[in-house]
Order: sequence, then structure tokens, then C-alpha cells
Amino acid sequence: MKSYRRIRLARGAGKSPLIAETVFLFQKTTRLQSAYAPLNRATGGAVAAAMRRAEFSAETGVISTVHSLKSSSCVFMVGLGAESCFDANTLRTATAKLTHAAFAARVRSLRLNPMPAVGRTMTADDTAIAIADGLAIAGFCFNRFKSTTRPAIGDEVPIDLQIYTAPDLRRMMGRGLKIGEALTTARTLSATPPNVAHPRYIAAESRRLAKQVGLRCTIISQSSMKRLGMEGIRSVGRAGSTPPSLICLDWPGHPPNRNDPILLVGKAVTFDTGGYSLKTGGSMSGMKYDKCGGMAVIGAMEAIARLKVRPRVIGLIPCAENMIDTTAYRVDDILTLCNGVTVEITNTDAEGRLLLADALAYGTKRYQPQAVIDLATLTGGVVVALGSFCAGMFCNNPTLRRRLETAATATGERLWPLPLWQDHRQLMVGTHSDLVNSAAVREAQPIQGAAFLSHFVGETAPIAMPTLPWAHLDIAGVASRSTDSPLYPKGPTGFGVRLLAHLIANW
Ligand code: BES
Ligand code: MN
Ligand code: ZN
Repeated sequence: MKSYRRIRLARGAGKSPLIAETVFLFQKTTRLQSAYAPLNRATGGAVAAAMRRAEFSAETGVISTVHSLKSSSCVFMVGLGAESCFDANTLRTATAKLTHAAFAARVRSLRLNPMPAVGRTMTADDTAIAIADGLAIAGFCFNRFKSTTRPAIGDEVPIDLQIYTAPDLRRMMGRGLKIGEALTTARTLSATPPNVAHPRYIAAESRRLAKQVGLRCTIISQSSMKRLGMEGIRSVGRAGSTPPSLICLDWPGHPPNRNDPILLVGKAVTFDTGGYSLKTGGSMSGMKYDKCGGMAVIGAMEAIARLKVRPRVIGLIPCAENMIDTTAYRVDDILTLCNGVTVEITNTDAEGRLLLADALAYGTKRYQPQAVIDLATLTGGVVVALGSFCAGMFCNNPTLRRRLETAATATGERLWPLPLWQDHRQLMVGTHSDLVNSAAVREAQPIQGAAFLSHFVGETAPIAMPTLPWAHLDIAGVASRSTDSPLYPKGPTGFGVRLLAHLIANW
């Protein structure tokens, strides 16, 4: 069975009468744009007639489906809301609704006819990307584990969708849909349950993907991690159903170059039970999503390779399953991480920072990056603080912060800054070890996480605050959704893939 659908850019002009057509309209438009006149004629005036109906609305995301006796396919009239409020976000949402309407109608080919906003409110390039985003975000469907023996009424059948588009949108649409494919990869891996997507599976899938898109892939296994002194990753993953690993994806740049790379690091805990500091009540459910940071880095690396971006980029994904058995790491253990910093475990549920610490220390030493960005579903506290509206951002460098904010605005993957001071670093100092992995006090938990990580970024750590440009994004609130929204179906969002793709494509 097919587990996800493909949305592709079709070749050629598309003469088939089976292609569904689109008309995009702002609210309070009374006359059809002249660009739509041929389409209106082809439907025998059905498009213009629809606009005259009392119930017609062009509010954002309202889709009116027009059928005409004259053509065999339908026309989707897509409301864009008030022209004065129009932006990429509105367009993504409207396109998302269009996507649902198209799939519900079992449409296989869709033509995106001229957009009224192009050249007025938005550039053709931004329009194309927003449309591609809307298609990819809303079109995600993970049905690998839906049996065909018990089909439920209304269950969506994945149908591949061919997109025909206007010449001015074509190039960027192609780029946007490549990012969309990478987004689907990240979300598919994220949605895959922990009994299937264990650390060995994630490593194998990374290898397969790397080969497919032209990335170099190295898996640092158990024995090499021991040699490299990565007691953090090894301890967290010791009781896992398969051994932990550090996945390294390497994009050499285009053309390949020897410049300092950008380093991306993503937490991939395939399931977080909390370990001996066991998660109780309902708090363990959904912990398959604890790998979303790592899956976002895998997706971003795919996008980077598909887009053939200029800079060198390294993606590191420390991957482990946080479980319990007689060998599992304990509270009170003191570990030595790969830069020699020792950590007393005060809570086995603060496992993500141990994985990231080893990966950050290894990555900053080995690759001498010009900048580092890590993504992790690190703390429940960030959800308490910021909800599910944005990720928490810690960043020590104004230029990197500006770049991230630009990418966040463009993609709608929002970030909000949180502070990290020397006082916070002090919170993490241990009695019989350099650090503890969780402070005795519950306050400022997302900052505790960031403070801990800051001891592993670059040469100046652990003594002083890192000077290497570094951003830590706590994505615990945004990595998955428990309800459907106009743009996102419930499940993994792939947060970070579009953000990082935009950031690095414009580096
Ligand atoms: N994976 C969790 C964080 C999390 C919580 C992600 C809820 C998504 C939703 C992380 O490993 C964790 O357990 N963090 C602890 C940190 C604490 C022990 C310092 C937490 O948030 O309680
Ligand atoms: Mn945990
Ligand atoms: Zn976790």
C-alpha cells in the first residue's frame, strides 16, 4: 500500500479536459478578472454566474466548486479574503483548503490559473512558494497502517496530484514542491510508530534517502561512539530496542567547496518513556514525536540536496530510544561526554540534551562550522511558556538571529526569543560533576535545557558562553498537532524543514 501521496509539477501546457481549473478571487470582487475570461467562456459563463449567487463568498479559504455542462472537469473558485490583509499566510491557508477540496473531489490534475495578487501584493516567486507550501502542508497523508480490510467511510485514499501552472510561477513552484517532498519525508518518518521506527530503522532510512538525493551519509555506530567518548548518546540509548547511533549527512555545497559549513543538529529520540524517571499518566503518549527535531534535519538536508544550495551543510542526528532494562542508565550516574565534560544524571527524562551535547561537541570540533543550529523537542516547559504558536529560540548572535527571523517570517514557522545568561549556566553546575542534566529547581526549564547545551558548543565551552554563532530551537510545542487546523492536518508538522531550507537557500 502506498503510504504517501506525491504532488508533482506537470510538464507541458496541459490540454486535457480532465484538468480541474482554479479561479482566485479577493473578497468584494464583483467582476471576473479579464485573465479568467477564456475559462469563463469554456464553462458557458458558469464561473461568472457563480459569483452572482447570493451565497457566493470569497472569504479566505472558502472554496466554491463550479460544474458546467460544457466541460468535463470542475472549477475551484478560491477565496483569498480582503485584498488589504493578503499575505503569504493567507495564500498558504487558501491553497490548503483548495488541496482538501481537490482530494475530496478525487481530482488528479489541477491547473493554477493566474493569480490576481501577482505583481500587486506579492511577487510571483513568493506566490509560487506559498502555493507549494499550502499544497504540501495540507496534502500530507500517512496511511501506511490503515488496513484495506476495514475501510472506513470517508477515509482518504491517497491520490497523486499533477499541478499545471502559469509560466511566471513555474520555476519557484518546482523549488517549492521539492521542499514539499522533503517535508513529507520528515513527517512520514515522524509519524512512523516506535515499534517500526527504532534507531536502526532511522539510520537505514537516512542511508537510503542520502543515496537517492546525493548526500554523503555516515553512521557512527556503537563501537565508534565508544572510541569517541560519546557516553551521552550511548547511555540514553543503552536500553533501546536497537542500538543508538549518530547519523551524519553531508552536503558538500554546490559547487563542492571547502568553506566552513553550516551545522544542523536534531534530537531523534524514537520513543521517550522517560527512562527510570518514568513518564506517568498520559504524558508518555505521543512520545514517538520526540524524534521530530532529527527528522526535520533529515528533511532539511533532503531539501538542501534537491535544491542544490551553495553552502556546505552538515546534518547530525543523534538517535536513540529512551527505554528501561537492567542496563539502562540511572539517576545518580555520572557520565563523561565527548568533550570531557562530566554530567551527573538527576533525571533520566532530560535525555535529549545528553544526545545533543555529544553531537554538538563532536560537530563543532570536527567540522569547525561557521554557524550551528539545533532543533529539539526538548522541554514541556516551552509549551507552557509559548504554547503551540511558535518555537522557543535561543541565539547568541544577532546576524544569525536576523537570518532565522527572516526565514521564520517567510515560511510562517514562527520563532520567539528566550534569554540565556551566565546565571542560567550556573544553575546547571553539579556538586560531584561539572554539570547536572536537570537542575534541582523546576523554574525556567526550557532555559535550563539551552544553558546545558551551551557547555558543548565550540571550543570556548565549557568554560565560557559560546562565541560560535549558535541557535537552539525548542520545538516541543510545534512539532506535532493533536487537532486539524485549516492549514495542518493533525499529526507531525515537519516544523523546521521549510525554515531551514529557506534559511540556507538564502544564506
Ligand atoms: N521529550 C521531552 C519533552 C517534551 C514534552 C516534548 C512534552 C513534547 C511534549 C523531554 O525529553 C523531557 O522529558 N523533558 C523534561 C525535562 C525535565 C526532566 C528537565 C520535561 O519537559 O519535563
Ligand atoms: Mn524526556
Ligand atoms: Zn525527550
